[in-house]
Amino acid sequence: MGNPATCYLNGELMALASARISPLDRGFLFGDGVYEVIPCYGGVPFRLDAHLRRLANSLAAIDLADPLSARGWTEVFEQVCRANGGGDQSLYLQVTRGCPERRTHEFPGRSEPTVFVMSSPLPAAGAFADGLHATLREDLRWARCDIKAVALLPNVLLRQEAIAAGADEAILHRDGQITEGAASTVFLVRDGELATPALHPGLLPGITREVILELAEQHGLPFRCRPIGLDELRSADEVWLSSATKEVAPVLRIDGDPVGNGSPGPVFAAMRGWFTRLREATARGRQP
Ligand code: PDD
Repeated sequence: MGNPATCYLNGELMALASARISPLDRGFLFGDGVYEVIPCYGGVPFRLDAHLRRLANSLAAIDLADPLSARGWTEVFEQVCRANGGGDQSLYLQVTRGCPERRTHEFPGRSEPTVFVMSSPLPAAGAFADGLHATLREDLRWARCDIKAVALLPNVLLRQEAIAAGADEAILHRDGQITEGAASTVFLVRDGELATPALHPGLLPGITREVILELAEQHGLPFRCRPIGLDELRSADEVWLSSATKEVAPVLRIDGDPVGNGSPGPVFAAMRGWFTRLREATARGRQP
Protein backbone atom coordinates (compact mmCIF):
# COMPACT_ATOMS: atom_id res chain seq x y z
CA MET A 1 0.00 0.00 0.00
CA GLY A 2 1.17 3.50 -0.77
CA ASN A 3 0.26 6.61 1.16
CA PRO A 4 -3.55 6.54 1.29
CA ALA A 5 -3.93 10.24 0.65
CA THR A 6 -1.69 11.55 -2.10
CA CYS A 7 -2.98 14.13 -4.57
CA TYR A 8 -1.73 16.10 -7.56
CA LEU A 9 -1.91 19.87 -7.48
CA ASN A 10 -0.55 22.11 -10.24
CA GLY A 11 2.22 19.81 -11.41
CA GLU A 12 3.21 18.18 -8.12
CA LEU A 13 2.30 15.07 -6.19
CA MET A 14 1.82 15.82 -2.50
CA ALA A 15 0.03 14.70 0.62
CA LEU A 16 -3.65 15.65 0.33
CA ALA A 17 -3.52 17.02 3.89
CA SER A 18 -0.83 19.54 2.91
CA ALA A 19 -2.32 20.69 -0.44
CA ARG A 20 -3.23 24.41 -0.38
CA ILE A 21 -5.28 26.59 -2.71
CA SER A 22 -5.69 30.38 -2.48
CA PRO A 23 -9.05 31.76 -1.29
CA LEU A 24 -8.93 33.83 -4.50
CA ASP A 25 -9.26 30.65 -6.55
CA ARG A 26 -12.20 31.16 -8.89
CA GLY A 27 -13.39 27.65 -8.15
CA PHE A 28 -13.80 28.72 -4.50
CA LEU A 29 -15.23 32.19 -5.21
CA PHE A 30 -17.49 31.46 -8.19
CA GLY A 31 -17.63 27.71 -8.76
CA ASP A 32 -15.78 28.66 -11.97
CA GLY A 33 -14.44 25.25 -12.93
CA VAL A 34 -15.27 21.76 -14.12
CA TYR A 35 -14.56 18.25 -12.88
CA GLU A 36 -14.65 14.54 -13.71
CA VAL A 37 -15.02 11.37 -11.66
CA ILE A 38 -13.35 8.34 -13.27
CA PRO A 39 -13.61 4.83 -11.83
CA CYS A 40 -10.42 2.73 -11.85
CA TYR A 41 -10.84 -1.02 -11.76
CA GLY A 42 -7.68 -2.86 -10.67
CA GLY A 43 -5.79 0.41 -11.19
CA VAL A 44 -7.06 0.73 -14.80
CA PRO A 45 -9.09 3.90 -15.53
CA PHE A 46 -12.41 2.77 -17.04
CA ARG A 47 -13.56 4.51 -20.24
CA LEU A 48 -10.72 7.00 -19.95
CA ASP A 49 -11.17 8.30 -23.52
CA ALA A 50 -14.85 9.03 -22.92
CA HIS A 51 -14.09 10.86 -19.66
CA LEU A 52 -11.34 12.93 -21.30
CA ARG A 53 -13.70 13.75 -24.19
CA ARG A 54 -16.38 14.91 -21.75
CA LEU A 55 -13.76 16.93 -19.83
CA ALA A 56 -12.67 18.59 -23.08
CA ASN A 57 -16.32 19.45 -23.84
CA SER A 58 -16.86 20.89 -20.35
CA LEU A 59 -13.67 22.97 -20.59
CA ALA A 60 -14.55 24.23 -24.07
CA ALA A 61 -18.04 25.18 -22.86
CA ILE A 62 -16.57 27.48 -20.18
CA ASP A 63 -13.81 28.75 -22.46
CA LEU A 64 -10.88 27.18 -20.62
CA ALA A 65 -7.98 25.49 -22.43
CA ASP A 66 -7.33 21.87 -21.51
CA PRO A 67 -4.26 22.17 -19.24
CA LEU A 68 -2.90 18.69 -20.03
CA SER A 69 -2.71 16.39 -23.04
CA ALA A 70 -4.45 12.99 -22.94
CA ARG A 71 -1.04 11.51 -22.22
CA GLY A 72 -0.38 14.05 -19.47
CA TRP A 73 -3.70 13.25 -17.77
CA THR A 74 -3.06 9.52 -18.09
CA GLU A 75 0.33 9.86 -16.40
CA VAL A 76 -1.11 11.92 -13.54
CA PHE A 77 -3.94 9.40 -13.03
CA GLU A 78 -1.44 6.52 -12.94
CA GLN A 79 0.75 8.34 -10.45
CA VAL A 80 -2.11 9.29 -8.12
CA CYS A 81 -3.73 5.87 -8.34
CA ARG A 82 -0.43 4.09 -7.66
CA ALA A 83 0.51 6.43 -4.80
CA ASN A 84 -2.84 5.65 -3.20
CA GLY A 85 -2.37 1.89 -3.34
CA GLY A 86 -3.80 1.02 -6.80
CA GLY A 87 -6.76 -1.34 -7.04
CA ASP A 88 -10.33 -0.05 -7.31
CA GLN A 89 -10.41 3.71 -6.92
CA SER A 90 -12.41 6.70 -7.92
CA LEU A 91 -10.29 9.46 -9.47
CA TYR A 92 -11.54 13.01 -9.01
CA LEU A 93 -10.12 15.77 -11.16
CA GLN A 94 -10.94 19.46 -11.11
CA VAL A 95 -9.79 22.35 -13.27
CA THR A 96 -10.65 25.92 -12.30
CA ARG A 97 -9.92 29.29 -13.86
CA GLY A 98 -7.14 29.83 -11.34
CA CYS A 99 -6.32 32.53 -8.77
CA PRO A 100 -6.11 36.06 -10.17
CA GLU A 101 -5.17 38.95 -7.87
CA ARG A 102 -8.68 40.37 -7.61
CA ARG A 103 -12.22 39.05 -7.49
CA THR A 104 -14.06 40.15 -10.62
CA HIS A 105 -16.93 38.32 -12.27
CA GLU A 106 -15.45 38.62 -15.75
CA PHE A 107 -12.58 36.38 -16.76
CA PRO A 108 -9.18 37.55 -15.46
CA GLY A 109 -6.76 38.76 -18.14
CA ARG A 110 -4.13 36.22 -17.25
CA SER A 111 -4.21 33.39 -14.75
CA GLU A 112 -2.97 29.83 -14.74
CA PRO A 113 -5.70 27.24 -14.18
CA THR A 114 -5.72 25.29 -10.94
CA VAL A 115 -5.40 21.57 -11.70
CA PHE A 116 -6.19 19.10 -8.96
CA VAL A 117 -6.49 15.28 -8.91
CA MET A 118 -7.19 13.01 -5.95
CA SER A 119 -8.50 9.48 -5.55
CA SER A 120 -10.53 7.58 -3.01
CA PRO A 121 -11.55 3.93 -2.61
CA LEU A 122 -14.30 2.83 -4.98
CA PRO A 123 -17.24 0.80 -3.63
CA ALA A 124 -16.99 -2.92 -4.51
CA ALA A 125 -18.73 -4.32 -7.61
CA GLY A 126 -22.49 -4.50 -6.99
CA ALA A 127 -22.22 -2.52 -3.73
CA PHE A 128 -25.57 -0.83 -4.45
CA ALA A 129 -27.26 -3.85 -6.05
CA ASP A 130 -29.55 -4.47 -3.09
CA GLY A 131 -31.36 -1.29 -4.00
CA LEU A 132 -31.76 2.40 -3.25
CA HIS A 133 -34.64 4.66 -2.32
CA ALA A 134 -35.30 7.90 -4.19
CA THR A 135 -37.31 11.07 -3.88
CA LEU A 136 -38.88 12.73 -6.92
CA ARG A 137 -38.32 16.49 -7.01
CA GLU A 138 -38.40 19.44 -9.36
CA ASP A 139 -35.09 20.05 -11.11
CA LEU A 140 -33.91 23.40 -9.71
CA ARG A 141 -30.67 23.56 -11.68
CA TRP A 142 -29.49 25.78 -14.53
CA ALA A 143 -30.03 25.06 -18.22
CA ARG A 144 -26.50 23.74 -18.96
CA CYS A 145 -26.29 20.59 -16.88
CA ASP A 146 -24.42 18.95 -19.77
CA ILE A 147 -21.35 20.83 -18.45
CA LYS A 148 -19.81 18.95 -15.54
CA ALA A 149 -19.43 22.13 -13.52
CA VAL A 150 -18.18 22.22 -9.92
CA ALA A 151 -21.04 24.60 -9.00
CA LEU A 152 -23.30 21.92 -7.51
CA LEU A 153 -25.35 23.74 -4.87
CA PRO A 154 -28.78 22.60 -6.18
CA ASN A 155 -27.50 19.02 -6.48
CA VAL A 156 -26.15 19.19 -2.93
CA LEU A 157 -29.44 20.54 -1.54
CA LEU A 158 -31.55 18.02 -3.45
CA ARG A 159 -29.35 15.09 -2.35
CA GLN A 160 -29.39 16.31 1.25
CA GLU A 161 -33.16 16.63 1.20
CA ALA A 162 -33.37 13.04 -0.09
CA ILE A 163 -31.11 11.84 2.72
CA ALA A 164 -33.16 13.74 5.31
CA ALA A 165 -36.28 12.01 3.93
CA GLY A 166 -34.63 8.60 4.50
CA ALA A 167 -33.81 8.10 0.79
CA ASP A 168 -30.49 7.88 -1.08
CA GLU A 169 -30.93 10.04 -4.16
CA ALA A 170 -33.25 12.64 -5.67
CA ILE A 171 -34.66 11.93 -9.13
CA LEU A 172 -35.32 15.23 -10.88
CA HIS A 173 -37.99 16.41 -13.30
CA ARG A 174 -38.48 19.54 -15.35
CA ASP A 175 -41.57 20.45 -17.39
CA GLY A 176 -43.13 17.09 -16.56
CA GLN A 177 -40.16 15.04 -17.74
CA ILE A 178 -37.42 13.20 -15.91
CA THR A 179 -33.98 14.71 -16.38
CA GLU A 180 -31.59 12.71 -14.13
CA GLY A 181 -30.63 12.11 -10.51
CA ALA A 182 -28.82 14.68 -8.33
CA ALA A 183 -25.61 12.77 -9.18
CA SER A 184 -26.76 9.92 -11.44
CA THR A 185 -28.48 8.93 -14.68
CA VAL A 186 -32.03 7.51 -14.56
CA PHE A 187 -33.24 4.42 -16.46
CA LEU A 188 -36.55 2.60 -16.43
CA VAL A 189 -37.75 -0.77 -17.67
CA ARG A 190 -41.27 -1.16 -18.98
CA ASP A 191 -42.58 -4.28 -20.73
CA GLY A 192 -39.02 -5.57 -21.15
CA GLU A 193 -37.72 -2.39 -22.81
CA LEU A 194 -35.05 -0.19 -21.26
CA ALA A 195 -35.46 3.60 -21.52
CA THR A 196 -33.44 6.64 -20.47
CA PRO A 197 -33.89 10.32 -21.34
CA ALA A 198 -32.25 11.33 -24.62
CA LEU A 199 -29.26 13.67 -24.19
CA HIS A 200 -29.96 17.42 -24.12
CA PRO A 201 -28.34 20.41 -22.39
CA GLY A 202 -30.44 19.85 -19.25
CA LEU A 203 -28.63 16.68 -18.22
CA LEU A 204 -25.13 15.25 -18.01
CA PRO A 205 -24.08 12.76 -20.72
CA GLY A 206 -23.21 10.00 -18.25
CA ILE A 207 -20.33 7.72 -19.18
CA THR A 208 -21.90 4.83 -17.23
CA ARG A 209 -25.10 5.52 -19.21
CA GLU A 210 -23.10 4.98 -22.41
CA VAL A 211 -21.72 1.70 -21.06
CA ILE A 212 -25.19 0.46 -20.05
CA LEU A 213 -26.59 1.24 -23.50
CA GLU A 214 -23.65 -0.57 -25.14
CA LEU A 215 -24.24 -3.61 -22.92
CA ALA A 216 -27.96 -3.56 -23.78
CA GLU A 217 -27.09 -3.46 -27.47
CA GLN A 218 -24.53 -6.29 -27.17
CA HIS A 219 -26.92 -8.55 -25.29
CA GLY A 220 -30.02 -7.84 -27.36
CA LEU A 221 -31.92 -5.92 -24.66
CA PRO A 222 -34.21 -3.47 -26.48
CA PHE A 223 -33.74 0.16 -25.43
CA ARG A 224 -34.81 3.65 -26.40
CA CYS A 225 -33.54 7.12 -25.49
CA ARG A 226 -36.73 9.12 -25.21
CA PRO A 227 -38.74 11.45 -22.96
CA ILE A 228 -39.91 9.89 -19.68
CA GLY A 229 -42.92 11.43 -17.94
CA LEU A 230 -43.50 11.43 -14.18
CA ASP A 231 -46.39 8.95 -14.25
CA GLU A 232 -44.39 6.60 -16.39
CA LEU A 233 -41.56 6.63 -13.88
CA ARG A 234 -43.95 5.98 -11.00
CA SER A 235 -45.57 3.03 -12.82
CA ALA A 236 -42.37 1.50 -14.29
CA ASP A 237 -41.54 -2.18 -13.80
CA GLU A 238 -37.97 -1.24 -12.82
CA VAL A 239 -36.08 2.00 -12.23
CA TRP A 240 -32.28 2.16 -12.10
CA LEU A 241 -29.68 4.80 -11.34
CA SER A 242 -26.15 4.79 -12.74
CA SER A 243 -22.92 6.67 -12.11
CA ALA A 244 -19.17 6.22 -12.03
CA THR A 245 -19.27 5.42 -8.32
CA LYS A 246 -22.61 3.56 -8.11
CA GLU A 247 -22.29 1.56 -11.38
CA VAL A 248 -25.90 0.53 -11.85
CA ALA A 249 -28.31 0.26 -8.93
CA PRO A 250 -32.02 -0.54 -8.72
CA VAL A 251 -34.44 1.94 -7.14
CA LEU A 252 -36.88 0.09 -4.91
CA ARG A 253 -39.00 3.01 -3.68
CA ILE A 254 -39.82 6.48 -4.96
CA ASP A 255 -41.19 8.83 -2.30
CA GLY A 256 -41.98 5.73 -0.25
CA ASP A 257 -44.01 3.94 -2.96
CA PRO A 258 -42.63 0.64 -4.29
CA VAL A 259 -41.24 0.45 -7.82
CA GLY A 260 -42.68 -2.69 -9.43
CA ASN A 261 -42.86 -5.29 -6.67
CA GLY A 262 -40.35 -3.37 -4.53
CA SER A 263 -37.35 -5.65 -5.14
CA PRO A 264 -34.54 -5.61 -7.74
CA GLY A 265 -35.99 -6.74 -11.08
CA PRO A 266 -34.86 -9.43 -13.52
CA VAL A 267 -33.64 -6.98 -16.17
CA PHE A 268 -31.51 -5.29 -13.53
CA ALA A 269 -30.08 -8.67 -12.50
CA ALA A 270 -29.02 -9.32 -16.09
CA MET A 271 -27.46 -5.85 -16.48
CA ARG A 272 -25.67 -6.20 -13.16
CA GLY A 273 -24.08 -9.45 -14.35
CA TRP A 274 -22.96 -7.93 -17.67
CA PHE A 275 -21.55 -4.88 -15.89
CA THR A 276 -19.65 -6.95 -13.33
CA ARG A 277 -18.07 -9.04 -16.08
CA LEU A 278 -16.97 -5.89 -17.88
CA ARG A 279 -15.55 -4.48 -14.66
CA GLU A 280 -13.62 -7.69 -14.01
CA ALA A 281 -12.27 -7.74 -17.58
CA THR A 282 -11.13 -4.12 -17.17
CA ALA A 283 -9.39 -4.94 -13.89
CA ARG A 284 -7.55 -7.74 -15.68
CA GLY A 285 -6.33 -5.14 -18.14
CA ARG A 286 -8.48 -6.20 -21.07
CA GLN A 287 -10.86 -3.30 -21.45
CA PRO A 288 -13.34 -4.31 -24.18
N1 PDD B 1 -21.62 12.29 -10.80
N2 PDD B 1 -25.71 13.14 -13.69
C1 PDD B 1 -25.12 13.88 -12.74
C2 PDD B 1 -25.73 15.17 -12.34
C3 PDD B 1 -23.94 13.41 -12.12
O1 PDD B 1 -23.34 14.16 -11.19
C4 PDD B 1 -23.41 12.15 -12.50
C5 PDD B 1 -22.16 11.60 -11.88
C6 PDD B 1 -24.06 11.43 -13.51
C7 PDD B 1 -23.53 10.11 -14.02
O2 PDD B 1 -22.40 10.31 -14.84
P1 PDD B 1 -21.25 9.19 -14.92
O3 PDD B 1 -21.92 7.93 -15.30
O4 PDD B 1 -20.34 9.69 -15.98
O5 PDD B 1 -20.63 9.12 -13.55
C8 PDD B 1 -25.20 11.95 -14.09
C9 PDD B 1 -20.35 11.94 -10.22
C10 PDD B 1 -20.16 10.49 -9.93
C11 PDD B 1 -20.10 12.85 -9.02
O6 PDD B 1 -20.46 14.01 -9.11
O7 PDD B 1 -19.53 12.40 -8.02
